[in-house]
Amino acid sequence: MNTPANSRSMTDEMLDELLRLLAVWRVELVLLALPTGLGLWLYVRLGLVFAIAAPVALVTTVLCVGPLRRFLGRLLHRSRVRRHLEAAFRALPGVLNEKRPRIVKITRTTFGDRVELVLWRGTSIDDLVKAEAVLAASLGVRQVRCVANAAKRNLVTLTITRHDPFNEAALRFPLLDASHVTLWDPIPVGVNEDGELVTVSLPERNVLLGGEPGAGKSVALSLLVAAAALDPEVDLWLFDGKVVELSAWSACARVFVGHDVQRAITVLEELTAEMDDRYDELLRRGVRKVTRAEGLRLHVVVIDELALYVAGIDKKFAQRFAELLRGLVARGRAAGIIVLAATQKPSTDIVPSTLRDLFGFRWALRCATRDASDTVLGAGWASEGFSASDIAGAHRGVGLLLHEGDTPVRLKGFHLDDDDLRTLVRRARQLRGLPAGPVGS
Ligand SMILES: Nc1ncnc2c1ncn2[C@@H]1O[C@H](COP(=O)(O)OP(=O)(O)OP(=O)(O)O)[C@@H](O)[C@H]1O
Ligand SMILES: [Mg+2]
Repeated sequence: MNTPANSRSMTDEMLDELLRLLAVWRVELVLLALPTGLGLWLYVRLGLVFAIAAPVALVTTVLCVGPLRRFLGRLLHRSRVRRHLEAAFRALPGVLNEKRPRIVKITRTTFGDRVELVLWRGTSIDDLVKAEAVLAASLGVRQVRCVANAAKRNLVTLTITRHDPFNEAALRFPLLDASHVTLWDPIPVGVNEDGELVTVSLPERNVLLGGEPGAGKSVALSLLVAAAALDPEVDLWLFDGKVVELSAWSACARVFVGHDVQRAITVLEELTAEMDDRYDELLRRGVRKVTRAEGLRLHVVVIDELALYVAGIDKKFAQRFAELLRGLVARGRAAGIIVLAATQKPSTDIVPSTLRDLFGFRWALRCATRDASDTVLGAGWASEGFSASDIAGAHRGVGLLLHEGDTPVRLKGFHLDDDDLRTLVRRARQLRGLPAGPVGS
């Protein structure tokens, strides 16, 4: 038999549940109450005809006026996401069940939703990251990812992905339509999870790309090379351990080096001498660095298969190359030298950390492990929720780019096939005033 205490607590529970239901359905209830209330009021005042006609007219107006309909759609969508997410939090095991994150903002994106959360004391981003798979299953979506604000760790952005943003087989490179490019402007390299354009600003920066074989490093590198080639004010210095990846660009490069490491060293020595001359020139002009206004040429040094040059069989050559390249990356910034290098795994046994750590921008394509991803992006990013090992094998060209922002950007890079390369090389030669000869050798 129920004691009075028991029955009181049951009543309390029922009341709590009712209040909770009213709270979670508040938007829908208010929207329903407006025409219903209007109908009732008109019924009392003016009779049945008005009581039916006015709410029908109100609902029809809202449905027929585009901006109003879209506003209502957004409101209902946000309310549904909030309800489902709150239910998913309630079903979580452990501390997050008792101290459920507070939802402060929901924004619909091209491929799902972005939700801003505030964590309660006693919980952390680690608890949420561990619950990502459970949350995705509860919501019945493709993926849920949580990233904490770098400055305020109690603020979290939760990204709900319903449609695969990176399902497109290949994305067209916007610069295929550009008649002229200046490398001082940001270069489009891909789209992020929301379908927004991702760009990279190269002056004063060096980029290191890494990822497992076939992940899309050479394709990503070729986007940056294409942009540099389309700017006639840029000198291209190409080093290609595989020879075939960058060879198409040799037609508009100042230097092209294949797998001859000794020649690569000679070319880097030449470039180092050029860098020293450039500093003398800057001294004469009384400026401390190359700027767009100075009108001095930028030098873009591109190295695909960096491992061949810095971890080859001949240790002396490898050391010398690494030493020269370190000098260029360390001192080249103000002289207008930009180094772009790609390798499968830049671990210290392959790329000396004294060289690797100088690269400011990192672009991790799919990696086999979280450790490998951290080797490219920098230690600690995998535990923050940014690991290129999470990228599906079928997602060629998808990666994480750590550049201007505080956190890496997940993106799918544009693609360039052989025809695109031929088109771009032809245009680059025209822009450089070179005769249009056979391309691709
Ligand atoms: N952004 C992209 N969009 C679509 N497909 C891509 C993209 N990037 C790469 N691919 C596909 O993946 C293949 C391998 O790419 P890529 O040669 O760039 O890999 P990689 O990382 O340089 O490999 P390796 O380490 O063997 O040199 C390409 O031939 C292309 O078919
Ligand atoms: Mg490659």
